[in-house]
Amino acid sequence: LASIEVDVAAIQPGQSIKTSWRKQPVFIRNLTPAEVEEANKVDVGALRDPQTLADRTKPGKENWLITLGVCTHLGCVPLGAAAGEVKGEYGGYFCPCHGSHYDTAARIRKGPAPTNLVVPEFAFISDTVVKIG
Ligand code: FES
Repeated sequence: LASIEVDVAAIQPGQSIKTSWRKQPVFIRNLTPAEVEEANKVDVGALRDPQTLADRTKPGKENWLITLGVCTHLGCVPLGAAAGEVKGEYGGYFCPCHGSHYDTAARIRKGPAPTNLVVPEFAFISDTVVKIG
């Protein structure tokens, strides 16, 4: 129960999956090079919850963005992790409950959510298997 292991080998750049951990939705996203670049060119000091992409990912694996799928406003599940869902104005996730927009590092950029989507404790235990929790 405390931790889960997920094989991410089949998740292509630009794709993401939803899984769950401790009864909460978790998004695992393989960022494209363009999405990584977009996240890295943001002026971090201007963010509501200042964090770099590197703060939220693992060294050498900055393309693997792993977050809880729980809006930090009032807990809805944002859209953007499943194919065809809208990703919001900043290309990451969009919470339709009250209109919070998250960027490609799942940082809050617009709307009422106070903080970025939470990054759970995680580690790569092989090149393609990630342990969450
Ligand atoms: Fe997501 Fe309110 S719960 S914007």
